[in-house]
Amino acid sequence: MTLPESSLQRVLIVSSHPLFGEGLRSLLRERQVDFEVVGLVNSVETAIQALEAHRPDVVIVDYDDEKVNREEFMARFVGSEGQVRVVLLSLKEGQEGREAVVYDRRTMAAWQIEEWLEGWTQPAPTPPIPGPQSTPRRTEMRHWIIAGLLVIIVTAGLGFGLTNARLLPEQASAQAVPIDQLFGFHFWAIAFLFALIVVFMVYSVVVFRRRDGDTGDGHYTRGNYRLEVVWTVLPLMAVLGLSFWGADVLAETRRVDPSAMPVNVIAAQWSWRFEYPDQEIVSTELVLPVNRQVLLTLSSQDVIHSFWVPEFRVKQDALPGGKDMERELRVTPTEIGDYKIRCAELCGRLHSEMLAPVSVRSEADFDAWVAENAAAISDVPSERGAVWSQQFGCVACHSADGSPGVGPTWLGVFGEQEILEDGSSLLIDEAYLRESIRNPAAKIVQGFQNVMPANIAEGMTDEQVEDVIEYIKSLSE
Ligand code: CUA
Repeated sequence: MTLPESSLQRVLIVSSHPLFGEGLRSLLRERQVDFEVVGLVNSVETAIQALEAHRPDVVIVDYDDEKVNREEFMARFVGSEGQVRVVLLSLKEGQEGREAVVYDRRTMAAWQIEEWLEGWTQPAPTPPIPGPQSTPRRTEMRHWIIAGLLVIIVTAGLGFGLTNARLLPEQASAQAVPIDQLFGFHFWAIAFLFALIVVFMVYSVVVFRRRDGDTGDGHYTRGNYRLEVVWTVLPLMAVLGLSFWGADVLAETRRVDPSAMPVNVIAAQWSWRFEYPDQEIVSTELVLPVNRQVLLTLSSQDVIHSFWVPEFRVKQDALPGGKDMERELRVTPTEIGDYKIRCAELCGRLHSEMLAPVSVRSEADFDAWVAENAAAISDVPSERGAVWSQQFGCVACHSADGSPGVGPTWLGVFGEQEILEDGSSLLIDEAYLRESIRNPAAKIVQGFQNVMPANIAEGMTDEQVEDVIEYIKSLSE
């Protein structure tokens, strides 16, 4: 058997029996294999050193040597990135001289040794390389350049798309500016990370797909120290950088303007009330002058609600629990217009309908609104009652036109006989209404659940309660 020059096999033998080495040498010589033994070692550690020092083509491990841990050998070397072949070989004296059993991924019978030795002296098949002149290195470089260009193109397209898709509502407050800058950066970061992952994934799936007739195993990679350092350090720096940026933006949205106008925001299931202590106005609409900071002090009469005007960006919970639980939020509206508060905390059945209008006006229009409202207190008790029932949120649940709500409608209710939960009947009179406003749970009309906040009337004066009763009476006339 004549072999080409390149078929010289550099063999590393792993065995603690010198006889194994001798037997193997003569076996290979008998089979006319062109080989050179580069080392004879007896442990994993020494084998690693020999691998680095001598770069053998094949490592042959003595299958019958109990001192050699073959499981560990196979785990450490088979298919490792060094492209070295590791085989287990059992050498026996048979009737017709030496016999060898090879365990090369699959176990082969003794008679297959010839076939195996032939395979081993053939040069390993190399993957087909497109183009007659291109070398593997240049091909590899070309893949990197194409994938890199695709990442840049996809990032640019997606980044422009995201930043121009009007994903954010109108920007209508000074606090929204730094927040939107942070959002803008995130859109580009999202575009880049998406491109980085998806381009490499799709490129690999398409370009390196399995071709017809290819039954080989994929290239096996075991760890990459440099890559792991890079993908740990870069995200760490990105997260740290964003946390500093985020803290800076948060501080910016809380920057205090000493001339800010105070407004108390009181949330209840399911309405908003706005008290202007300086102007002595209570309103169900949040009217604000443009370009002036407003200091909102938020509280709740029942459960947790959340004050959120998307155009202002900032958001803050309104918590029950009195003075100690009050929370502040500063907003400087910058665009004249009409907006909406949306309760942003799930707070019960009508959470989705817990809206309130916001009107940002010029300084002059705001002053006009203040003058109009300060003078708007009527002399007629039922008219005042209609105003209080708006301000204290009664109308969120009790309609004045007979339409069904969470609570009984007020239309025509006064003077009626109602059946209570316990089956008894009762005349709806002033005393009953007074009790129901101050202590909602006392007597519940059949067919309704008691969801009325127990302290809804906490902020109401006795006069205001009487006004509301007059208003309810007026709806039955
Ligand atoms: Cu209040 Cu949701």
